[in-house]
Amino acid sequence: MQLRIFKDYPALSDAVASEIVELAKSNPEAVFCFASGDTPRMAFTMLAAKAREEQVSFDRCTFIGLDEWVGIPPENEGSCHSFLHTTVFKSLHISPNKIHLFNAMSNELFKQCETMDKLIRDIGGIDLMVVGIGMNGHIGFNEPGIPFDKYSHVANLDETTQSVGQKYFKQNSSLKQGITVGLQHLMEAREVILMANGAKKAPIIKKAVEGEVNNDVPASIMQLHEQGWVMVDEEAASLLED
Ligand code: GLP
Repeated sequence: MQLRIFKDYPALSDAVASEIVELAKSNPEAVFCFASGDTPRMAFTMLAAKAREEQVSFDRCTFIGLDEWVGIPPENEGSCHSFLHTTVFKSLHISPNKIHLFNAMSNELFKQCETMDKLIRDIGGIDLMVVGIGMNGHIGFNEPGIPFDKYSHVANLDETTQSVGQKYFKQNSSLKQGITVGLQHLMEAREVILMANGAKKAPIIKKAVEGEVNNDVPASIMQLHEQGWVMVDEEAASLLED
């Protein structure tokens, strides 16, 4: 794992957008797995502008959605589905057959997990994951206590995730479960960027980066990834040593 600290959120976002563009240039068939949430929002907005300016095509790339709230329909603006469509897929003109998201409305969620695992296997793995970190140290919906060797699964969400998650929704929503790509996928991804910004993420970033590696803080798995980049702004880095 390597740590990169940026002056502020725009500088962090610009760097992440550039990494994505550079990968698409060097590998036009790259497989991306993107988180939703507030953290990557600016990077994805910048990505669309950079792709246009540099005339980089993402047509042959594949996009996998990291996670979704179980029972939240895709048209709900708070869904991960809606976020990724609005911030990434529309602006990059990605064709639907290149987009793979969990159907969190399915009655057979375990089949959704099987399908996602098979897809990732058949496509040859993920080239770049861009993820955030939850206030409890989760990545996607890999909640505290989750074994590091799990692939896609359905998670019961802890109280922090249920209450923090309300910020994405206009109306109070029932957020009991999530469906997510697993930490074993993260370890097998060729490159992972974990982004965090703002002072509120400083305590959990400190635990993830400098604490013991264990599943009480799922994001501490980043310390084990040889091509893992923890990219943060100065505020999120403010509690780190030196
Ligand atoms: C959410 C999502 C994650 C996201 C994380 C941080 O609950 N499940 O995929 O990365 O929490 O969210 P934010 O970027 O809004 O802080």
